[in-house]
Amino acid sequence: MSVRIAPSILSADFCRLGEEINAVVESGADLIHFDVMDGQFVPNLTMGPPVLASIRSVTEVPLDVHLMIDEPERYVEDFANAGADIISFHVEATQHPHRLIHKIKDLGCQAGIALNPSTSQDEIEYLVDELDMVLVMTVNPGFSGQSFIPDMVEKIRNVRAMMGDRDVEVDGGIDNQTAHLVSEAGANILVSGSYIYGHTSYMEAIESLRDYTV
Ligand code: DX5
Ligand code: ZN
Repeated sequence: MSVRIAPSILSADFCRLGEEINAVVESGADLIHFDVMDGQFVPNLTMGPPVLASIRSVTEVPLDVHLMIDEPERYVEDFANAGADIISFHVEATQHPHRLIHKIKDLGCQAGIALNPSTSQDEIEYLVDELDMVLVMTVNPGFSGQSFIPDMVEKIRNVRAMMGDRDVEVDGGIDNQTAHLVSEAGANILVSGSYIYGHTSYMEAIESLRDYTV
């Protein structure tokens, strides 16, 4: 299974967001990862649908929206209308995950569920057949630049076994040291923020994540 790289624009220079997106796309990014935080589900605030719509106007690359918000059902329609291709929400953040998966699909997007580090894959046992993607958080959501949690490697392996050939994404602390651990465990979409945007060459950084045999 080939590994796809999704730079998280949370670590981009927001004054030059369009340029920063084009730069990672030209450097080989397969998706753009868009982190939405509400100051409730996580202790940080980021961006909403109007920013996503602006990004949609500068790139054709799939937009991968990661909702770290309580009651995500309130906003999925807005993000779909703004141009999302994939919408992931946290299973911890809604009472009705099954209903929400179908709402996202009815809006024409792929549906993903994200798991906090302390949430077992067992929580989604009865949802797995409905999902296009599972997002395994490898840090506690809320901030970029945190350290990878090694215990998550086993969870990635378990989620891969549940998902067959569908997408398993990882997010948090992914760099040239951790990419091979998650890829070998079965992750096929690697989100990376501070590592890619902190590198002088985005292309070198993206290639180093894909080339996980090194
Ligand atoms: C964390 C976000 C991540 C974050 C990743 O809550 O969901 O997408 O931007 O940043 P790094 O790669 O720096 O850990
Ligand atoms: Zn994210």
